[in-house]
Amino acid sequence: MPLPSFHLCQSVRAREKPRLYQLQKRNELLPYAFFTRCARTFSVLLLLLPAARPAVLPRGRFALKIRDDSQSASAPATAVAAPATAITIPDIDHPFIAPGPDDQRGPCPAMNVLANHGYISRNGIVTFEEVVNGMMEGFNMEVHFAAGLAALNFVSRGNVFANKISIGGESPLVPPSPGNIDGNTTFGIAKHGRFEGDASISRADAFVGNNRAFQQPVFNLNLLELGRLGDNGVDGNNTVVNVPTLIAMEKRLFATDQASNPKFEFAARRMFAAYGQAAFLMTVFANGTTNQTTLPILDSIFRNETFPPNWYRAAVPVTGATNAKVSGAILAGIPEHVPGRNNDQGVFVADPLPPPPFNSSLPCAGYFDQAGNTPATLVNTTGIFKQNVDFLVKILFAGASANPGCTQLQEPFGPAGV
Ligand code: HEM
Repeated sequence: MPLPSFHLCQSVRAREKPRLYQLQKRNELLPYAFFTRCARTFSVLLLLLPAARPAVLPRGRFALKIRDDSQSASAPATAVAAPATAITIPDIDHPFIAPGPDDQRGPCPAMNVLANHGYISRNGIVTFEEVVNGMMEGFNMEVHFAAGLAALNFVSRGNVFANKISIGGESPLVPPSPGNIDGNTTFGIAKHGRFEGDASISRADAFVGNNRAFQQPVFNLNLLELGRLGDNGVDGNNTVVNVPTLIAMEKRLFATDQASNPKFEFAARRMFAAYGQAAFLMTVFANGTTNQTTLPILDSIFRNETFPPNWYRAAVPVTGATNAKVSGAILAGIPEHVPGRNNDQGVFVADPLPPPPFNSSLPCAGYFDQAGNTPATLVNTTGIFKQNVDFLVKILFAGASANPGCTQLQEPFGPAGV
């Protein structure tokens, strides 16, 4: 018999509709109070992520509800309170199948793993709802956190009108946005410059190498730090990821790429994302039974792009606050890193601070910087297109405003067609 959560997600998938606005109809923004509760937990916050919430937000496990107008308003809420136990992933219905030549894969190990196991479309072309459900089902990501991550990528590299994004490069299955308002191609998440950036854990910088596929030499830089600083565990000494390992990794990735990439950029949005992604190693990829991320787990997810053997997803949903605890520790552990970029002489120069209130924290600066790298043309859309844009923009602000002082919504104001 399928597990309740699997059944839930399947039922949501079956009802999936191609327009985000249908999701919006049944959702409202997360009340500010929720975020302030999270915010009080941590002195340094990295919470550009949470998002829209279902009209009914039950305790325990829940899934995004998507209903269209044909459904009765009195339809019962789909909610199952599951016990806080880890569930083995993948289940029998999600075997690993290596991608075919036409399947899209890209720089996100989590997206690649989910697609290789069919938790999201194996061809790598996904909808907003599908990718949120996939993150919840495969990695037990909390719904607001998952929706925030998806929103960030949809506004920067997806087709918001068609509700499609490629988890790799451009694809004929993702048409350009109506009116070609962002050029005549929707590139996909692998395209450098808006969200994809430098100093990645397992990919080369776009200017000097392959920023899309796994690069063993880059990944080895992290393994050196794990071998030096990792905790001891069942898989051997110095094999368990801890915060000092993540700090050392981020220092080394920055130093290596800053020296080797003349066009090295580590703007606020990238710094914020890079630390958040490093934190995922400890929060999302940990085996839910041990709460440890070990060398074989990293190897399986990053290099083989498959769930590790005997792996259990987190016992309780991974929230933005959970991740912020780790990414905040990375930020605090590298005070010498500031947002900036190399100049023509290869010297790293700090970027100017954003205007208030966006200078109030790194997450807020990252939020502003990301909006400045999301096409302004999205704002002048109409109809369903505009509703979808607004829905996603509000999701992003809901996350950013979790950070004290980050009180102003910023609409996209970046260039199109890049
Ligand atoms: C379960 C949720 C997710 C997890 C655990 C996750 C994890 C990660 C990790 C660890 C990296 C760093 C890879 C590296 O530096 O080599 C990464 C990068 C990336 N992710 Fe994800 N991710 C998630 C969701 C998403 C979603 C929903 C999208 C878009 C649809 C996405 C798009 C990206 C992109 C574009 C990068 C490349 C960033 C860069 O290195 O320049 N991720 N992700």
